[in-house]
Amino acid sequence: MRVILLGAPGAGKGTQAQFICERFGIPQISTGDMLRAAVKAGTELGKQVKEVMDTGGLVSDDLIIGLIKERITQDDCAKGFLFDGFPRTIPQAEALVEAGIDIDRVLEIAVADEEIVARLSGRRVHPGSGRVYHVDHNPPKVAGKDDVTGEDLIQRDDDKEETVRKRLQVYHTQTKPLVEFYQGLSAAKGTPKCAKVEGIGSVEEITAKVISALD
Ligand code: AP5
Ligand code: ZN
Repeated sequence: MRVILLGAPGAGKGTQAQFICERFGIPQISTGDMLRAAVKAGTELGKQVKEVMDTGGLVSDDLIIGLIKERITQDDCAKGFLFDGFPRTIPQAEALVEAGIDIDRVLEIAVADEEIVARLSGRRVHPGSGRVYHVDHNPPKVAGKDDVTGEDLIQRDDDKEETVRKRLQVYHTQTKPLVEFYQGLSAAKGTPKCAKVEGIGSVEEITAKVISALD
């Protein structure tokens, strides 16, 4: 199964992706995680994207499309994949269509902007795996440590309030139009199947809604 998770920054895409990928046996492909890994490793790509990420802008479409095309040729994508944070613009979505990469499901997780700012200020992540926590809503077993490896959790550079507001603005102008794009594609071609889940409630409640929307 090929799934796209749509939703604002902090809507819970990464959190829910973990459960979906386990349930359906598909890899999570997060362009944000891939870019952050490149920044951390200090590669050419990382150096190129660091500033735009830290200030809440979008990395160029060509660069992202290249990354995705290479990633989905890997063996673990044979049974499908889940895109988390991609596509993010109409040109990125059009590139998938042009490449003949059909998508089965597009799921939007909807959360209001005011909730997002509070969520992101409490977010902590395990950089090695991409596992996501929240100091109040989804705390690790030991404060500041990853549940699986025991390694340190970090706060993302782009989770400052000012940057979060910029990311939300970018989401509304550049990414939100994808909901209509996929509804139009679905009406014309019969695929992908589009669904929307309200993202307010406990992580478990939302997982249940997400899984039932995908089943
Ligand atoms: P990316 O990493 O994709 O960030 P994002 O879309 O802004 O989304 P987030 O990762 O911030 O949020 P999320 O929805 O995954 O929420 P999470 O589950 O962590 O992109 C980062 C940057 O990379 C971009 O700004 C851009 O520069 C670049 N980039 C990436 N992809 C690109 C592309 N395709 N094109 C161009 N540029 C690209 O949850 C958030 C917090 O809330 C956590 O603390 C979590 O524990 C908590 N939480 C989750 N669920 C709940 C709940 N139900 N109740 C309470 N708290 C909850
Ligand atoms: Zn994420």
